Amino acid sequence: MEIIIAETVDEMSKLAADMIERQLLRKPSSVLGLATGSTPVGLYEELVRRRKEKGLDFSKVITFNLDEYLDLSPSHSQSYRYFMDQHLFKHINVDPKNIHVPYGHAEEVEEFCEWYEEEIKRAGGIDIQVLGIGADGHIAFNEPGSSLGSRTRLKTLTEQTIDDNARFFDNPEEVPRFAITMGVGTILEAKEILLLASGAQKAEIVAQALEGPITAQVSASALQMHRHVTVIVDGEAGSKLKRADYYRWVFQEKKRLIPRLIGKVT
Ligand code: PGA
Repeated sequence: MEIIIAETVDEMSKLAADMIERQLLRKPSSVLGLATGSTPVGLYEELVRRRKEKGLDFSKVITFNLDEYLDLSPSHSQSYRYFMDQHLFKHINVDPKNIHVPYGHAEEVEEFCEWYEEEIKRAGGIDIQVLGIGADGHIAFNEPGSSLGSRTRLKTLTEQTIDDNARFFDNPEEVPRFAITMGVGTILEAKEILLLASGAQKAEIVAQALEGPITAQVSASALQMHRHVTVIVDGEAGSKLKRADYYRWVFQEKKRLIPRLIGKVT
């Protein structure tokens, strides 16, 4: 696991965009796993900028989003599909038929989840999966207690997640209680994982997830078992990491000596 403590959210977003850009240059038909939430907004802005200014090409890219609220239609202003359209998809040249976001209005949720898993396999698996982390340690909507082997399924959100997400809704009562989410096991099958976190409110859970025990109580801790994870946090989110000095030193040395290896397993 490579842990990069960026100076600012802006630097975090640019470093993350560098990794996605390198991936697309290496493999134009990459399968990208995408996340919603406040954290990746800067990353998406940066990718949109690179599309406009440098022509970064998404025409062959296939995307899979992590999750979607149950019973919100794709056009609902708080649906994750809508979020992705607004922040990324409508600004880049991705082929709409290559976009996959779990469908919140699925009639047969179990069948839909199986189909979603199959689609990921059919696409050849996810090359790079972008993740945020919830204050309760969730990745996607894998709330505490989620099996570390879980697959795409329906999940009930915790009170904390519902409270955290209430800021986006006019009325807290409107925040959905259920979501369709990739499982921890699904996420761990991505070839490469990029976890982002920013802000002091994430500092404690970031330290638990990266330096604490692997436990289903903190879904993000399962990432410790993956062979190719890059974590990029800002200084605030990284402020409770015990080995922060070491991570900073590694990053500085890599920047100085072998910049091409940033985001690579070393
Ligand atoms: P946030 O959400 O980026 O809005 O903090 C992260 C998450 O819940 O996964």
